[in-house]
Amino acid sequence: MTCRCDYKTENESSSGDEERSSKYSFVSALCMSGGEGANSYSTNSLLQRRALAKAKPVLVKNIKELMMDLNFPKYIKVADLGCSSGQNTFLAMSEIINTINVFCQKWNQNPPEIDCCLNDLPNNDFNTTFKLIHSFKEKNFTSKVPYFVSGVPGSFYSRLFPRKSLHLVHSSYGLHWLSKVPEGLEKNKMSVYITASSPLSAYKAYLKQFQRDFTTFLKLRSEEMVSNGRMVLTFIGRNNMDNPLHRDCCHFWTLLSKSLHDLVIEGLVSASMVDSFYMPFYDPSKEEVKEIVGKEGSFEIKDLEAHEYDLGHCNQDQSKRSKSGQNEAVYIRAVSEPLLVAHFGNAIINRLFGKFAHHVSQHAGCRNKTTIVDEKETLVLTNELNNKILAIHCKSKDDDLGDHYLAVGQSQEYKFRDNLWHTTLFWCHMGQGPDYKIQQVFEAYRSTWSKYVGYTYWIGREDGIYFRQDPHGLPLVKRYDWNLTAY
Ligand SMILES: C[S@@+](CC[C@H](N)C(=O)[O-])C[C@H]1O[C@@H](n2cnc3c(N)ncnc32)[C@H](O)[C@@H]1O
Repeated sequence: MTCRCDYKTENESSSGDEERSSKYSFVSALCMSGGEGANSYSTNSLLQRRALAKAKPVLVKNIKELMMDLNFPKYIKVADLGCSSGQNTFLAMSEIINTINVFCQKWNQNPPEIDCCLNDLPNNDFNTTFKLIHSFKEKNFTSKVPYFVSGVPGSFYSRLFPRKSLHLVHSSYGLHWLSKVPEGLEKNKMSVYITASSPLSAYKAYLKQFQRDFTTFLKLRSEEMVSNGRMVLTFIGRNNMDNPLHRDCCHFWTLLSKSLHDLVIEGLVSASMVDSFYMPFYDPSKEEVKEIVGKEGSFEIKDLEAHEYDLGHCNQDQSKRSKSGQNEAVYIRAVSEPLLVAHFGNAIINRLFGKFAHHVSQHAGCRNKTTIVDEKETLVLTNELNNKILAIHCKSKDDDLGDHYLAVGQSQEYKFRDNLWHTTLFWCHMGQGPDYKIQQVFEAYRSTWSKYVGYTYWIGREDGIYFRQDPHGLPLVKRYDWNLTAY
């Protein structure tokens, strides 16, 4: 979602963050699993990285419009709200800095100084994030944009920045977290979130809390942002309007409830402990979001997009089912372990997520399910030359992707799946200058290169051809010089 901050209330600041209810004191432990270990968020945030990639076109479009609206300012303050620990926050910042850099070059303008503010709750492992600044700087070493990175601990349901100081607000995968567990969930027994069998009162309680929190968020940002500022917000939503209680059988919180039940049956956890644990989380529909933004009144929605994830777990192959189960368990563990430990203690966690992995694998036939794995690869070629068209042509043994001509700053994306034998190989040609005679031919993608499915980038610059591949955080490296050999 993108909002354009059109006008602001001049009232005093809002009272700020909701008091985190003592009845559900575990909520104050909310953060993602820190560090860089096997169960950390940093290691298990591929899903969120995919969400960043999906939102990229909207982010880029809005940065360009912002630069125009602000008439190429000398200084820009950007906030990433709910940055968490690990590389993802720098992915977003890289995108913002690169877009500004290329756009200023295109319009022959001096780039602004950029103030990059990384926000999260005080429990967040900022150290793991800040340790990555080094590789972030390497990745952006050719950028002419001067930028400065700082951390801003605090809740985005409270004031974080001075009045009228922010130009661009970005937040990805954070706003579905509520400030507290809603009141009135007592009848929603043995379930950590809304399920198909929840009473309607549970849905109403969650919706009411989301309305309060999101309204507070918008009001506070409207105080902090300049007029004509932009916000790009990505969060988990749902697309079923008819039945607000519907969450499919494989919904991650439904499977977490089932896994907790298993531990109750095994006598490892008491039923009353499960009955007093609810996720401070809500997945609104598009209509609910639109209504809140409209009622709050400070922002205008420019784009509102819903994206579905591929149903990759509908897998009939037994060995792959078990792998999908483990994958999903580790992703859900990375986002929920601190909350679960605060309420149930450490001792049950391994067993709980063993159960969770088993339940995922048992639901391999389930349709309409959010999944962690979208098995498509993406090859991206970009023109970062000075004022020249870049000609590109890629092909594999089976696919000729044709000729394309990219203007400065433009990218061409190709999506494909690895073949069954994992022997996919793409070659690309890049050409530039008079008659495109300054050129290079290179191996652009091999199945065996990538540890994860993801993105492979090739960037044509004046001094050569640069390469980067997921996982992000790896620096952009120059792989080839240009030459004059015939193609
Ligand atoms: C799933 S992570 C997403 C992190 C990152 N933006 C990404 O795309 O990978 C959500 C983050 O939002 C943070 N968060 C949740 N509620 C918050 C709040 N009220 N204020 C600030 N951060 C919050 C969590 O601590 C967590 O680090």
